[in-house]
Amino acid sequence: MNDPIAIIYKSIGSDEAYYKLVDFFYAEVEKDTLLRPLYPADLTDAKRHLALFLIQRTGGPQTYSNERGHPRMRMRHMPFPIGIAERNAWLTNMSQALKQTPEFANHREVLEHYFLDFATFLMNKADETMQPPG
Ligand code: HEM
Repeated sequence: MNDPIAIIYKSIGSDEAYYKLVDFFYAEVEKDTLLRPLYPADLTDAKRHLALFLIQRTGGPQTYSNERGHPRMRMRHMPFPIGIAERNAWLTNMSQALKQTPEFANHREVLEHYFLDFATFLMNKADETMQPPG
């Protein structure tokens, strides 16, 4: 298999590190004046959904799809404007969270790469600088 993401869960071994990662991530989002307003006031569900998605995507139990159906991430992100600034803010928050979760140290590079590609794929808004003149 040629999917370096899908072997991570096995190496990590349990859900716990994912919930830690997601807690750190949302602690960064709490301080993020660009992203915070896009999320609901109560982040409990957002945390659980992100943890379950990452567990599933990295080769762990498929609880996310059992509860939420097909991930359809681009569709689920359509309600939120995601341009370069939002993408970069998300990635910075996740980078900080990864640094604070040593369980992922061996996988940080692969994950950073995956997140960069995936967050770029989720972009759904042209930034002002990308608009034609006039
Ligand atoms: C690699 C990049 C990303 C991943 C893996 C990711 C993953 C997820 C997941 C799994 C959910 C929950 C979907 C559900 O089951 O309802 C979600 C929701 C959400 N995402 Fe992302 N996302 C990414 C990038 C972004 C970016 C760049 C933004 C910037 C605006 C963003 C904003 C949101 C918001 C506002 C929600 C809704 C939270 C809620 O209502 O509970 N995401 N994302």
